[in-house]
Amino acid sequence: MQSPGKKNLLEDVKSRLDIVSVIGDYVSLKKAGSNYSGLCPFHNEKTPSFMVNPEKQVFHCFGCGVGGDMAAFVMKYESMEFPEALKFLAVKAGLDPEEYSSGFDKRQADEKKDLKEIMAEACRFYSSALQKSQPALQYIKNRGISPESAKEFMLGYAPPEWGALAAHLARKGFSPEKIIRAGVSKKGQNGLFDMLRNRIVFPITDSYGAPVALGGRVMDASLPKYLNTPETALFKKGQTLYGMSLAKDAVRAEGNAILSEGNLDVIMCHQNGFKNVIAPMGTALTAAHMKFLKRYTSKIFLVFDGDNAGINAARRSLGIALEQEFEIKVALLPSGEDPDSLLRKSGASAFRLALDNALSPVEFVLKTFKGTRTEVLREAVHMVGLAADPIMKEELVRELADKGRTSEDAIRRELARVGQKRSYGGRPTGPDVSKTAEQKPAGPAGIRYKEEKLLLSIFYNQPDKRGAILKDMSSEELEDPVARGLFSKMARAEAFTAEEQAVLSALAVAPGFEPDDALAAASDCIKKLRVRAINKKMAEARGDAALLKKLIMQKKALTGGRTINGE
Ligand code: GTP
Ligand code: MN
Repeated sequence: MQSPGKKNLLEDVKSRLDIVSVIGDYVSLKKAGSNYSGLCPFHNEKTPSFMVNPEKQVFHCFGCGVGGDMAAFVMKYESMEFPEALKFLAVKAGLDPEEYSSGFDKRQADEKKDLKEIMAEACRFYSSALQKSQPALQYIKNRGISPESAKEFMLGYAPPEWGALAAHLARKGFSPEKIIRAGVSKKGQNGLFDMLRNRIVFPITDSYGAPVALGGRVMDASLPKYLNTPETALFKKGQTLYGMSLAKDAVRAEGNAILSEGNLDVIMCHQNGFKNVIAPMGTALTAAHMKFLKRYTSKIFLVFDGDNAGINAARRSLGIALEQEFEIKVALLPSGEDPDSLLRKSGASAFRLALDNALSPVEFVLKTFKGTRTEVLREAVHMVGLAADPIMKEELVRELADKGRTSEDAIRRELARVGQKRSYGGRPTGPDVSKTAEQKPAGPAGIRYKEEKLLLSIFYNQPDKRGAILKDMSSEELEDPVARGLFSKMARAEAFTAEEQAVLSALAVAPGFEPDDALAAASDCIKKLRVRAINKKMAEARGDAALLKKLIMQKKALTGGRTINGE
């Protein structure tokens, strides 16, 4: 017999609760055709663009683009992770989440406990190896790391032998399978070999200080400079912040966190008295990092090298942090410096000065974006538009009007015109970047071409028509990658990601066709997207007369009018 797992709980919750009443507890909803509508709780609006569809049990806001099922709503509204939101809904539904957790959760907890023991043992092993290696101790000394800091950050040294750690762990009684699942060693031809060899080891801990992964740096100029052990049941790279366990008290006390880029930056900042400093794990900052950090503070300093690469990286992080409703300052260091090198060269006062001179998001754009005055202002408005918190957005509008010497009214009109927010900082600074149609953001449903969006909407909302549509076309014919991905997933009945759910929820509340005409509309869409594809080929064909002729024939055949039913 199958034991009940997490999946069933969600299904049972959904069968007992109606999304209209779940959301109705937070938002006043009115019937509007086949949907319910209300004022979106996730952004500031006066006319309702927030829709709930009882038939599909999804919600979507046309103003800010959020959407999904009832769990997605609770996660967003209550700032909960999925398991927590699910429990919350289960209780609402009169279900006991405990009854569903049975063996599975316990097994998972046991597994994590074992992996943590392995990681702790690995750190002990590497830290004692450090004390025995003169070159490694010398490297740490040369980098200006004090013995106290090395101890605080549990630095270690991975010896050059292939399987030194694996052999040690085996002696301690850990099974090869567990050692592999902890990510510290891999299976090779002659037994296990270690992930890190001849490297300085930087243990990566959870926020309670328990090691969950290891970073390793070479001691010379060889590559890769840093190597991390892989993601495991314990370690999720995109949400782990290096140094969090040592920084969290200071973050709370100071009321803010300083985000740097590297391990060494974190260590040297701590050593120089800046204890609220953390860094993402060699990846770009993610929304998950920011959500995690929100537990401790909603104020951050972003610290970056003042060179072009640093500015671009800062723009990306700024966008993510604004979307996550952080109050942000950007500290740009002298070109070519990171906190580590600046502290070593010029001391704590120089770093303090950089923090004191940190720029507000508006100042950052006005100061660093290269372009004409209009381009700079437009860029600033775009950045302001990303602020998810309405009060913060108001502040930014006022600041931009003031410092950009323009009117609040002009900014608001531009904000309304740009409307839909899109990601920020994906492209390099400078006036030479043309905003072509290719780069333009897609509409609220995230799909660039109208006919592809409509076709997808039909495909999604009219499952009984899928067979007929699939007979006539394949997903490869869709040009928009989002549309293509969704179409093929639906065709193969595969599960959707949260982002895909949001796109689909938009299609569900605004299908854009009358159910009776669905097939004719689909046929029309297919024709349109084929004509577009042929036009594109014709534009590329240029001098090739034979190809052009063939394409013209194809186009004629299409516009001659064929429908899916072959009428
Ligand atoms: P140091 O040279 O030790 O001062 O490093 P850094 O922090 O100044 O280096 P850099 O600015 O190149 O990298 C910033 C962070 O990105 C590092 O601290 C690492 O966490 C990560 N990183 C750098 N290079 C690599 C790499 O080759 N692989 C991986 N996985 N991460 C890297
Ligand atoms: Mn560095």
